[in-house]
Amino acid sequence: MSKSIGILTSGGDCPGLNAAIRGVGKPALELYDMTVLGFRDGFRGLVQDRLMRLDTSVLSGILTDGGTILGTSRDKPHRMPFGGKTRDMTDAIVDTYHRHHLDVVICLGGGGTQKNALRLHEAGLNVLTLPKTIDNDVAKTDVTFGFDTALSTATEAIDRLHSTATSHHRIIVVEIMGHRAGWLALGAGIAGGADVILIPEIPYTVASVARAITTRARQGKRFSIVAVAEGALTAVEQARTVKLRKRKAAAKQKATRKRIANELDQIEADREGNTQRLTKELESLTGIESRLTILGHLQRGGTPSAADRLLATRLGTACTKAIAAETFGCMVASRGDGSKLVPLKDVANERKLVPPNHPWVKSARLVGTCLGDE
Ligand code: F6P
Repeated sequence: MSKSIGILTSGGDCPGLNAAIRGVGKPALELYDMTVLGFRDGFRGLVQDRLMRLDTSVLSGILTDGGTILGTSRDKPHRMPFGGKTRDMTDAIVDTYHRHHLDVVICLGGGGTQKNALRLHEAGLNVLTLPKTIDNDVAKTDVTFGFDTALSTATEAIDRLHSTATSHHRIIVVEIMGHRAGWLALGAGIAGGADVILIPEIPYTVASVARAITTRARQGKRFSIVAVAEGALTAVEQARTVKLRKRKAAAKQKATRKRIANELDQIEADREGNTQRLTKELESLTGIESRLTILGHLQRGGTPSAADRLLATRLGTACTKAIAAETFGCMVASRGDGSKLVPLKDVANERKLVPPNHPWVKSARLVGTCLGDE
């Protein structure tokens, strides 16, 4: 009997999602005669049974489109806001799955989605996932789709900022997305020739950044570009965070753990103003006029790059082959030119951060880029 598959996109959107949906759907329909059902707006679509039948006409012409034709949300199956309350909606998802006689649900998402997919797998559903996110922080895959496009977008932004920074002899601080990982800021910073790159994995001091800029000024370079990952931390903030995390892990009482969790949340919330603060501090320490540019969601929009279309298509088709072979409970990871099925339990609770001795870090240092820690 031919199979029925459900597919959803969850978490922040990114370029390449539609290419992946098409990569899964086309062979499923045309080669394996499967039924392909899309669920709208992430896991919420499964709860509310909001369907979109994916036939060849729907899958046609979407390869180059940014975003996701299915819509997305950050809703989690086990903690979903409903009618003013947060509820565990796992049972409703299981009901939808059985009502449509699904053989598998495919979840396209980043780190959070991998965890939520594992929960559904543990609730008895057949699940497969694909790794997407501009942050490139999903464990056990060489790369995630969305990253390459965002990398080009952020690099182009740095290129453009260069001409205005040189003309006005200014410091331009540019904040780049990436959540708690520095891949995007590091990659775009190197490719765009930023003079300073600050990433969460390498805590910085403002004094070190100011020193690097002043040294450049003494050498006659009257402008500087500072690429800052949104999750970058000063050495002091990092030490405080590590201490609080340790105290939370050791705390015996629930109330203490909650209080520490609130403190950690506050540090997270305070980060929003960090880049603005850094820009002002650099201006006052160096005496050079400074401006801030936050790239924000620009980095998630637009048409996917050729590399992302290719990656999303090949992971999508590999996923359909896994369904035909009835291999479930895995993420379809990218390995070299091919793919590998990695058990979800090995992916779900890990985040791929930039190792401080990563070759990109070494190259950045070798071309004289300040990473804020010298
Ligand atoms: O995970 C992708 C990402 O763009 C992160 O880089 C960023 O921190 C976050 O999503 C922003 O999320 P939202 O779109 O919910 O504001």
